[in-house]
Amino acid sequence: MACWVFLSVVLSSCFLGAASRATLGVVNTEGGRVEGTFKRDGLFASVDIFKGIPFAAPPKRFEKAEPHPGWPDVLKTKKFKPRCFQTTLAQNDVFGSEDCLYLNIWIPQGRTVSTNLPVMIWIFGGGFLAGAGHGANFLNNYLYDGLEIASRGNVIVVTFNYRVGPLGFLSTGDANAPGNYGLWDQHMAISWVKRNIAAFGGDPNKITIFGESAGGASVSLQTLSPYNKGLIKRAISQSGVATCTWAVQRNPMHWAQKLAAKVGCPKDDPAAMMACLKITDPKAVTLAIPLKLVNLEVPLVFYLIWAPVIDGDFIPDEPKKLYHNAAGVDYIAGVNNMDGHLFAGLDVPSINQAGLGKTYPEDLYHLIQGLTMNTRGQGTNITYAQYTKDWPSTPSQKTIKRTVVELETDVLFLVPTQLALDLHYQHAQGAQTFSYVFSYPSRAPIFPNWLGADHAEDLQYVFGKPFATPLGYRPRDRDVSRHIIAYWTNFAHTGDPSRGESKVPTPWIQYTSTYTQYLDINKDIDVNSVKQRLRYDSVSFWNQTYAALEATL
Ligand SMILES: *[C@@H]1O[C@H](CO)[C@@H](O)[C@H](O)[C@H]1NC(C)=O
Repeated sequence: MACWVFLSVVLSSCFLGAASRATLGVVNTEGGRVEGTFKRDGLFASVDIFKGIPFAAPPKRFEKAEPHPGWPDVLKTKKFKPRCFQTTLAQNDVFGSEDCLYLNIWIPQGRTVSTNLPVMIWIFGGGFLAGAGHGANFLNNYLYDGLEIASRGNVIVVTFNYRVGPLGFLSTGDANAPGNYGLWDQHMAISWVKRNIAAFGGDPNKITIFGESAGGASVSLQTLSPYNKGLIKRAISQSGVATCTWAVQRNPMHWAQKLAAKVGCPKDDPAAMMACLKITDPKAVTLAIPLKLVNLEVPLVFYLIWAPVIDGDFIPDEPKKLYHNAAGVDYIAGVNNMDGHLFAGLDVPSINQAGLGKTYPEDLYHLIQGLTMNTRGQGTNITYAQYTKDWPSTPSQKTIKRTVVELETDVLFLVPTQLALDLHYQHAQGAQTFSYVFSYPSRAPIFPNWLGADHAEDLQYVFGKPFATPLGYRPRDRDVSRHIIAYWTNFAHTGDPSRGESKVPTPWIQYTSTYTQYLDINKDIDVNSVKQRLRYDSVSFWNQTYAALEATL
């Protein structure tokens, strides 16, 4: 393998010698040779791009993926492969393919071919229901294009597909269908990178996984699984961790049976049920239980039913009891300051309405009832008191609406992230912990005008869109993007976001349980951006007072 890579590098360098630009050409992988493309990046640099390399065989339905048998000729890897089977946005049709386990690689090159670069593997989000390694696109502009991160941070970027929805996560909670197929796919991609990335100029001992939302929770779960021991050096969870309630489905059999009934499969005998589901049209399986988005009976988060499970194998126990497995993994975790807005707007639509669209204290109370269902009503009143204790006697519309958004942000993202940071810090051995909040306000010209950073707003900056599509952005947006990419890729290089090849506006002080330092990321970052005690009162309420109440039930 090494000889072939050496040869191809020499040949390519000769052919392109006139342009002083190195490129890998054909690369030998464990499955066979692959040929990508390259894109110029300034006068003396370029980025090699491989799209659609198989990292596993086409998976069998409701089974773990198997290694790919390989291919005889040079595989042209120049186009993204279809995403894994999933519903369209309208949820009346499906798209993608069951044959979907492919990854994409971006490698920055200078005058000579790169070697030993850190590797950043992206895990996409989408509620474990939707999404793809390449992300949403407008024409040829893909959200998760790795080019900007690779060239600005001098790192290799990898993106990949994993199975989602029932095909990725349906489980009977026993050996008939243990579940977590999507997580196993992610693990297959990570281990493929570990075994093969040296041939692309990567350092297999410097792998950082990063992801957002369900991808952030996946990142967290991958670091907690014993199967990734020695594979992952560092990890970044954006707006999602393993300790989020929505990251784990605790009653998978209930939903497996519900789906079986919808598609006409037996539901009382799990073996017969799975035998039937395996031969049922995957389109029917995928469409069987649409995600409810209007007239919700309970908060939206409870409709995210296809999620990882505690299978006693890949996830051997409650996530909070698995942090010893992440002891050696450097970790960044954080949230957007209004991550909950997207969910709040579906649960309490009036928060997004100006004028007559009023939100009442009763709406907040009702939402709290839904979010505290696990205490069967016992936790509702103390939570309502907690969230209204600073209200004036007649709260303004802005106060009520903001409280709804803060509540959802706390419950779904912020509070579990603080717990994950603390657990990581407490168990770390020779690894560091870093916390952030992303507070750069949404650019969307919509009501409410006090909106901060909504869910997924960070993605465009992480992937350098203000540089890739400069006309759509302002200079200060480019500052935000430059700073995030610098922190993220420095972290991939050194384990410390402030140390590395890229200049950062201020040192990001590591998190400790005592001082709970975090970096507030927006357009103006300076020494004052390192703060402490992020929403500490709410965090203490949920992680101590409320958790103590749960423990008594
Ligand atoms: C919660 O508060 C409501 C309204 O003040 C009251 O009617 C109800 O009895 C309280 N419930 C509990 C369990 O304390």
